[in-house]
Amino acid sequence: MIKKDGLYYPTEEFKKKAWVSSPEIYKEAKKNPIKFWEKLAEELFWFKKWKKAFQHAPPFFEWFSGGQINITSNIFEKNKLGWEKIKEKPAIIWVPEPVEEQERILSYENLFKQVCQLANALKKLGVKRGDRVGIYLPMIPETIISMLACARIGAVHVVVFSAFSPQALRIRLQITEAKILITADGYYRRGKIINLKSNADEGIKETNVEKVIVVKRAGNEVNWDFEKNYWWHEIVENEAEFIEPEIMEAEDLLFILATSGSTGIPKACVHVCGGYTIQAYWTGRLIFDFHPEDILWCTSDFGWITGHTYACYSPLLNGITTLIYEGAPDWPIPERWAQILEKNKVTIFYTAPTAIRMFEKYGAELLEIYKFENLRLLGSVGEPIDESAWLWYFKNVGKERCPIVDTWWQTETGGILITSLPGIGPFKPAFVGLPFPGVRAEILDEKGRICPPEKEGNLVILPPFAPGLFRGIYKDPEKYLKTYWSQYGKKVYFTSDAAYRDKNGLIRIIGRVDDAIKVAGHRITTGELEAAVNSHPEITESAVIGIPDEIKGEVPVVFAVYHGQKSAEEVKKEVVDKINQTIGPIALPKEVYLVEDLPKTRSGKIMRRVLRKLFTREDLGDLSTLANPECVEKIKEKIQKGLRKS
Ligand code: WT7
Repeated sequence: MIKKDGLYYPTEEFKKKAWVSSPEIYKEAKKNPIKFWEKLAEELFWFKKWKKAFQHAPPFFEWFSGGQINITSNIFEKNKLGWEKIKEKPAIIWVPEPVEEQERILSYENLFKQVCQLANALKKLGVKRGDRVGIYLPMIPETIISMLACARIGAVHVVVFSAFSPQALRIRLQITEAKILITADGYYRRGKIINLKSNADEGIKETNVEKVIVVKRAGNEVNWDFEKNYWWHEIVENEAEFIEPEIMEAEDLLFILATSGSTGIPKACVHVCGGYTIQAYWTGRLIFDFHPEDILWCTSDFGWITGHTYACYSPLLNGITTLIYEGAPDWPIPERWAQILEKNKVTIFYTAPTAIRMFEKYGAELLEIYKFENLRLLGSVGEPIDESAWLWYFKNVGKERCPIVDTWWQTETGGILITSLPGIGPFKPAFVGLPFPGVRAEILDEKGRICPPEKEGNLVILPPFAPGLFRGIYKDPEKYLKTYWSQYGKKVYFTSDAAYRDKNGLIRIIGRVDDAIKVAGHRITTGELEAAVNSHPEITESAVIGIPDEIKGEVPVVFAVYHGQKSAEEVKKEVVDKINQTIGPIALPKEVYLVEDLPKTRSGKIMRRVLRKLFTREDLGDLSTLANPECVEKIKEKIQKGLRKS
């Protein structure tokens, strides 16, 4: 890249090959964003064209209503690159965690056959259009096959992160009323076999799940319920290798993906067939500049939206190869990820700042032998990337050659909404850049006025939003309205992020303004953690805050009010167990403090801000408005004692 006045630009060589390299595209999109998206939509395959591109009955909106589509037709037989051209090329490269195990490569044709076979099998098991299908699977090709098989027959997939606890699985199956679950016997993680089937058995209790399909992956022993359980390989074996695509309305559900809610009940975000397909295809093509020969490694798990859109749908719609890896990127050696990049000739690498900071900590010396000659583009997602991690990534992985797209989006947006385009730029470390063409993002102050450059405010998205923005919280329109469409009225999408623009209009994301924290890029609300802690019978109340962490960005710290008789060590362990059981290991707290009281306002609101400032050593401000200022001093002592210990 070329550096000028602290900004980075793509080289002429990169520009020449890029799909877009002229800022004209922004002008065109700005003139008429609806027309712009319509033009993009026209390039995909529709069974029937839409009647109206965008309709708005605030807060509800629709894109391409009247149109009929199936995302899998656009991946397979109607792929934009031409089916004959792509059918023999690798759709998926799967890298198992055990080093001695071979990679598995699935061509487009092979993937299509397996998708159709599973789709036929699902139908025989009674799955109908619109039914929700739970998917609780690790990073294996069968996860993609399951998602696409659902999409092929119009069933709605509900993928649940395989490291979530049985209880977290249960609530997701309950709120989406899933009838069937696809899982695996087990999978490898850091050299161990995780018995996923036993978690699944526990998780389906008290749900409507009547049937469980099990992929044989790790060969570990599993409990078997002869009435409810089906081996994947047995049910697909004799199925036909083709099935007609279900003709879906643009606004029919494609999938539901839950994100952490504030009360312990996750928010089930609804994504639809038409808009999501357009967004997934075009953001991949223009932001990652997907070309037919590209091999993308997006490190996100399928359990998160990044895994849905950029490890599965977007690369496949673009007819390129997606690499998926089962295990931990630093297992069994710290630079396993670099080996994977090199060996498989990956051209685009998309990961999270937490991973980059971890690679950095292992030391750049490990990378000296890696030239990464095939890499041409890097991406970052999930949390703010600081300048030093950006520069490290740029130098040691991108070898100062590859542009870095720092992409801002959310589970709710379905696809990337803000990032500079690689053939245009400019790129500035720690800034996500410009809104995608056709997306109107603004930064507003408390009163709804547009913030001038350098002034921090709330990031919002204005009509017509983007086709891929979610359409609601499953069966909960009130929560949808309250969470996203009430801060600035029903026509303004509230992102819950604080941000500002620099004088060039480039956007920098500061972080969440709600109770969500980003732990290693994973979004968890402190409310959900508190609900887990409060389920301890002897804990009367608790407050959870996120504190800065060198590698993970943020980590949770728990303050729990406990007046019982057990030892502090014992109770702390029980609190950690509670979190592990209700959510899973991703949310484990860095520290648990047992306290007598929590700082509260006179109306009884817990002042988490005060607790956070005890860690960041900021000025505590005026404590006289608190109902119980004396507890702050006591908590401070506890924290300091803890800090001295380490
Ligand atoms: C939140 C959404 C969709 C990506 C995976 C996370 C934060 C996301 C960035 C970025 C700074 C970012 C925001 C956002 N975030 N990307 N490039 N720079 N912050 O999806 O779990 O729904 O989290 O992640 O705070 O609101 P998610």
